[in-house]
Amino acid sequence: MTMIDLTSKTLAELGAADEAGVAALFADVRCRFDEQVAIHSTDRESWKAFLVQWTGRKSGTLSQITDNWLKASPPELKRAVGQELNKLKAHVEAIIEEKRVQIEAVAEQSAQLRDKIDLSLPGIERPIGTRHVIRQTYEELERIFRSIGFSVVEGPEIETPYYNFEALNIPEHHPARDNMDTFYLEGSRTSHLLRTHTSPMQIRTMEKEKPPVRIVVPGKVYRRDNPDSTHGYMFHQIEGLAVDEDITFCDFKGTVEYFVREFLGPKAKTRLRPSYFPFTEPSAEVDATCHVCGGSGCRVCKFSGWIELFGAGMVDPAVYGFVKYDADKLSGFAFGMGVDRLAMMKYGISELPLLYQNDVRFLRQFP
Ligand code: DAH
Repeated sequence: MTMIDLTSKTLAELGAADEAGVAALFADVRCRFDEQVAIHSTDRESWKAFLVQWTGRKSGTLSQITDNWLKASPPELKRAVGQELNKLKAHVEAIIEEKRVQIEAVAEQSAQLRDKIDLSLPGIERPIGTRHVIRQTYEELERIFRSIGFSVVEGPEIETPYYNFEALNIPEHHPARDNMDTFYLEGSRTSHLLRTHTSPMQIRTMEKEKPPVRIVVPGKVYRRDNPDSTHGYMFHQIEGLAVDEDITFCDFKGTVEYFVREFLGPKAKTRLRPSYFPFTEPSAEVDATCHVCGGSGCRVCKFSGWIELFGAGMVDPAVYGFVKYDADKLSGFAFGMGVDRLAMMKYGISELPLLYQNDVRFLRQFP
């Protein structure tokens, strides 16, 4: 007999006429319940269905028993049926609670398994990038000058006209200011500007330090240039200054030649051409044999065999006057290089804007 058959009948129909008969029926029901619980899986959905089947208000087994056995029982058996039913209910509830705890534990466990990190999966690779080609060039330049006793110092990008011009022997109406026409900070046409070169750090360093001085100064500089393939409103320089007693033009030339060979390779030759800067005397343009043709002449060097590298010279004694150095005792040399230019030359880059566009296709070429 199925459970439904059993509980939809009355006690009389089932032939239970006394307490023993009632007890036997309840024992049967309890036994079936225990069996079903034992074979029941811990799956939540089917457990819900099982609960409904046993404890559902309307047609659950317990309700059926209440309606068909208890309520419909002859008065002399009511007490016995009531007691048996209470025992059965208590048993069912206790077991259900036990099972609920079990089912939840299993669900929790499988949720944990689902969320578990799979350590055998390969990790997510986040590329960390590389140093920009300008930075790489700076590092190379700094390495070379450090190797011969220079130290690296940095200075402010916002300068006063005094450091940017006057103390470098460029008085107010000097024509050398023309090509450095520059960015003044708003409301301070005379008090602050974006430095047009790294040379102001020559002055700041000599003001602070006693000779001997041997420094290089990397940094950004700004000019009101029209942008094209070799010009921008900002570029990078590295300044150099060496001042001591007895520094001669030979020291200057030797340093410059050493630098050119280190930077461009042992075959590179150096040439000095007369030039003019207000803060050096004499002044020179430093040229190197063309890195493309090696000096035989090509389009890059306009068939001259030489490429202009940077400006330099012996420090003009007038500059020492601004920093209270003794011009009779001291001498020295200075130079100022355009780092973007050097990088473009060294790595064969033809367009300056490429350096600033952050296009990874370009940057990846300089790992
Ligand atoms: N400051 C110069 C410029 O930006 C470059 C320069 C030339 C720097 C000669 C020097 C130097 O120190 O001696 O055009």
